[in-house]
Amino acid sequence: MQKVLITGASGFIGSSLVDKLLSEGYEITAGIRKTSSKKYLKDKRIKFVDLPYNNPSELKNFLHTENFSTIFHLAALTKAKKKSDFKKVNYGYTKALIDALQGLETKLIFFSSFAACGPGEEETFCACNVDDEAKPNTEYGITKLMAEEYLKSNFENFIILRPTGVYGARETDYFVYFKTINNHLEPYLGFTPQRLTFVHIDDLLEVCLLAMHSPLKGKTYFVSDGNLYLDTEFAKITKEVLCKWTIKLKFPLFIVSWISVVMESFGKITGKTFTLNKDKYNILKARNWNCNIDNLKQDLNFQPNTDLRKGVEKTIKWYKEENWLK
Ligand SMILES: NC(=O)c1ccc[n+]([C@@H]2O[C@H](COP(=O)([O-])OP(=O)(O)OC[C@H]3O[C@@H](n4cnc5c(N)ncnc54)[C@H](OP(=O)(O)O)[C@@H]3O)[C@@H](O)[C@H]2O)c1
Repeated sequence: MQKVLITGASGFIGSSLVDKLLSEGYEITAGIRKTSSKKYLKDKRIKFVDLPYNNPSELKNFLHTENFSTIFHLAALTKAKKKSDFKKVNYGYTKALIDALQGLETKLIFFSSFAACGPGEEETFCACNVDDEAKPNTEYGITKLMAEEYLKSNFENFIILRPTGVYGARETDYFVYFKTINNHLEPYLGFTPQRLTFVHIDDLLEVCLLAMHSPLKGKTYFVSDGNLYLDTEFAKITKEVLCKWTIKLKFPLFIVSWISVVMESFGKITGKTFTLNKDKYNILKARNWNCNIDNLKQDLNFQPNTDLRKGVEKTIKWYKEENWLK
């Protein structure tokens, strides 16, 4: 049985990947912290480890003893109280892992993000390609890009995945949007339509399997369902699936910017992280999140199965079954 390590296993994608790989018969070690929730990690077959990212010799010793065939590195901060925390975790922990893997044949599948590339340009609105010059517009994206670059220069057996917005069962950020529409409110940020891309968790998990089985190395892929959607289309699909009428609310970007500054300052005082902050504002204000997945289709033979309508239907069904939505 092949041994696989998944870091960030307590998170939305990590816990879903644990289930997927267990169902495929892999021996799974879940990288979590002492404080991590095990809500979705109840299967008795899962082994757990709190990886010593800050102790290079201990980390190396663990990885060389276990000799995993594949490591999915998902542990990351998507929101942080301090800028320096993004660098410490998203870049620093990835670097520590890469350093500790030297000399091993282990395949490292690194979860980067569309944010590492930054949004596309807003004149022709053409799609971003993996070879385009990266211009991340958030601390999160900058630190993911730093990790990508370190990986490319210091390890050979890797695949980098840059998912766009991932949604599905267990997800909590898009959930806020679904809940808002469920409450008859349809918010828009800015007055120019936003071009968006999405990938449903089930399709992303297929990509994980394809990447793990592929003999290819040293490749980077955007991951989406291959379609481009306008924000208005996302709202229309959500309203139709929820069977709700809505009142449209259009907020000028400067107001959203102001709220994000207030929430970030409030977060610093209270020690909490909020869904809306300056980084999130930079993501929301960008109008072009269009990416090209041709190389993912060609190299890994990825065929997306879940377009936005089908994905929103599945996701809302799950939220209702779990009583997250009434
Ligand atoms: N969701 C998306 O739309 C999306 C899009 C593109 C890329 N990604 C990438 O996909 C990966 C998983 O994302 P997700 O949506 O599943 O995020 P998530 O639910 O926030 O999960 C993040 C995971 O990272 C762990 N983590 C955070 N800080 C850590 C630290 N200091 N030490 C060790 N572990 C730490 C968390 O552990 P705790 O549970 O203990 O906090 C959690 O298991 C991330 O690398 C993210 O950048 C996500």
